[in-house]
Amino acid sequence: MSDIRIPPTGADPALLDVRGLTKRFGDFTAVDDVTFSVSAGGSLGIVGESGSGKTTTARLITGLDSPTSGTLTIDGRPRSAQRGKTQRLARARQVQIVFQDPLQSLDPRLSPRDTLDETLRLHFPGSRRDTRVRELLDQVQLSSRDADARPRGLSGGQRQRVAIARALAVRPRILVLDEAVAALDVSVQAQILNLLAGIREQTRVTYLFITHDLGVVRSITDDVIVMRHGRVIESGATATVLARPNTSYTRILLDSVPGPNWDPRGIAAAREQD
Ligand SMILES: Nc1ncnc2c1ncn2[C@@H]1O[C@H](COP(=O)(O)OP(=O)(O)O)[C@@H](O)[C@H]1O
Ligand SMILES: [Mg+2]
Repeated sequence: MSDIRIPPTGADPALLDVRGLTKRFGDFTAVDDVTFSVSAGGSLGIVGESGSGKTTTARLITGLDSPTSGTLTIDGRPRSAQRGKTQRLARARQVQIVFQDPLQSLDPRLSPRDTLDETLRLHFPGSRRDTRVRELLDQVQLSSRDADARPRGLSGGQRQRVAIARALAVRPRILVLDEAVAALDVSVQAQILNLLAGIREQTRVTYLFITHDLGVVRSITDDVIVMRHGRVIESGATATVLARPNTSYTRILLDSVPGPNWDPRGIAAAREQD
């Protein structure tokens, strides 16, 4: 399937448009002819089991990697490789990413407050930053005590709030969240998902929400694409795809969500047949 497109809802034109996106590593095709679009302020889920190409897709959109082929446009402008620091920073301000484990991306020596100040200094040198730092800390509901702690002294949920605040600091058009709540306890997960829903309402930032967890997709996305072996095998409104999946793969992913009728042995058997 090469031309799956999520129609932009309402009158909004597509903010992010991805066409025929392909990434090969040697002979192996990690992302294979992926096409989709997302409107401004929308939230698109990308689901699929481990190894299906979700993170590679995220890295291509963020610009951490370049595609083997295909095009990426934001607001109708191609997101081609740009050299030079100024251009690189301008490009980074369009799309920011939050990963699963913020400890790996947070400087262990810097408090959240200093992390935000550093990010703002890098992107907006010479600007006054203290007000914006406070605003960001408020936005992710970090107390001033947490704001002055070291990353190691914070809980996983608080660290993820710091990573989200840092990503929001540059007012990105698009925020990519790659398994951003996967490592958190369910109750903390719910808090972060609520926080993200509120931030989207306030800022109109667009989410690309990558997860293997269909429960998470249900709560935070409008539309969803399902990836398998690097390809998009199903797409549509999240509620529709989850209620009436078209492929057995999506049905198996759905059945894999632990719930009252969770049946690990049945899932494993179905997975082998599929
Ligand atoms: N830099 C790389 N070099 C070689 N293979 C890679 C590289 N990055 C990812 N892959 C492979 O591409 C496939 C998709 O990986 P990934 O995008 O991380 O999947 P997901 O995030 O859905 O788990 C995997 O088989 C992975 O091993
Ligand atoms: Mg991944």
